[in-house]
Amino acid sequence: MNTAVVGLQWGDEGKGKIVDLLTAEHDFIVRYNGGANAGHTVVVGGETYALHLIPSGILSSEKTCVIGNGVVVDPAQLLKEIESLRARNITVGDNLMVSNRAHVVMPYHKEHDAALERVLASGSGNNSIGTTKRGIGPAYADKIHRSLSIRMGDLLDPDYLASRLGVICDIRTRELDALGVDAPPLDAASLTESLVSMGRELGPHITDTVYALHDALTQERPILFEGANACLLDIDHGTFPYVTSSNCSTLGIPAGTGVPGRHVQRVVGIMKAYTTRVGEGPFPTEELGETGDRIRERGNEYGTTTGRPRRCGWLDLVAVRYSAMICGATSLSCMLLDVLSGFDELKLCTAYELPDGTVTDRFIPDAYRLPQAKPVFETMPGWSEEIVGATDREDLPMAARDYLERIEAITGLPIEIASVGPERNQTLRLQPPTAMPSTAGLT
Ligand code: GDP
Ligand code: IMO
Ligand code: MG
Repeated sequence: MNTAVVGLQWGDEGKGKIVDLLTAEHDFIVRYNGGANAGHTVVVGGETYALHLIPSGILSSEKTCVIGNGVVVDPAQLLKEIESLRARNITVGDNLMVSNRAHVVMPYHKEHDAALERVLASGSGNNSIGTTKRGIGPAYADKIHRSLSIRMGDLLDPDYLASRLGVICDIRTRELDALGVDAPPLDAASLTESLVSMGRELGPHITDTVYALHDALTQERPILFEGANACLLDIDHGTFPYVTSSNCSTLGIPAGTGVPGRHVQRVVGIMKAYTTRVGEGPFPTEELGETGDRIRERGNEYGTTTGRPRRCGWLDLVAVRYSAMICGATSLSCMLLDVLSGFDELKLCTAYELPDGTVTDRFIPDAYRLPQAKPVFETMPGWSEEIVGATDREDLPMAARDYLERIEAITGLPIEIASVGPERNQTLRLQPPTAMPSTAGLT
């Protein structure tokens, strides 16, 4: 069975932990979208690994990790990540494939990202998105523009690179200048040299991953697709424009890997037991006072990639239900349940009230209309016990079980996994895997 793991909120739901866990049941672990804006944490035996570009299956050396064509790859970051894993005795060799068609994040993409954010944040009102400054938007924009983009396969062809980078550097220099970047003109020769050198190092990994994945399908070797970012940050279905630049929902899988959606039979939607968001954009259930601070401190809600404090609030089930619909979720994994210990009461948002007084259970994927929605909450009793040692449903206090059951009732989906701590083994397998009927799959 092929599985997708996808975030149903605004990111950082704990996808890395679940991908690591489900790696045991699969042979290939495949990233299909995003880039080094992702920060996926895996904690095993007290050791913490933060992965940005490399799939979270990399800790299992007998599995093959694939960076698909839909990912934008910063080669310098990738090399850094490979090196830091090897320094900790994690094997990175034939077990890592990188698509020759994945587009490259260049140094000037990162500069452009940061400069544009700076310009948008200055002046009247803050119009910035609060990006991770990893060059994601500019790199995907280049892919869509076509004429100025470089792909990973191009790093293996020095003559081609040299022939392209002259004009690219000229145009980019002018653009950066217009954005107020005070730097010497980009030097095509030194950029070519550095890319060729990185291409030499990454060469053994760069390949046609589409055929590799279809060979895996033919041999019935199970594939796990690892979503980066999350459904509410999806460029088409998220809270535009406060989103990232890729299809992070499962709808990105076919385009980002070359594998038709019908091959994905199981979609595990990852959700926190509450909600967080990093960067700008609407967040109906955000708690700006003591409750938000308490969740942030208990959940250690600081960004894996940027270290920024995450905005925190109650669980928004209108949003989760919408994401589950877009992603075709077949089950849920409810993360960080332990963070909610100690609250007298917990709130669940089940609907939105609109300015005209109507109440809707439909999400509003529009950043300018969503702030008008007032969350309608259901209140449930909390629990005081710490639950980090729970291994079974029966170990959970009744109020925690009721909380999970209420989420299942409102979303109409089984909670397959509940997580009570960052460690691989702080995990409750509550239900058997749920798959679509064998004829279905994501179409
Ligand atoms: P991802 O981007 O979706 O992979 O999530 P991140 O790694 O950015 O953020 C999730 C954070 O929560 C990481 O620090 C994880 O180690 C941690 N985490 C995951 N599951 C749990 C859990 O059940 N309880 C607690 N307390 N922390 C968790
Ligand atoms: P993981 O995979 C949380 C957010 C950024 C910003 C917006 C656009 O760890 O869940 P970008 O740099 O992509 O142009 O930023 O999207 N964002 C994330 N927030 N987790 C992520 O990834 C994110 N990836 C992007 O904070 O608001
Ligand atoms: Mg993260």
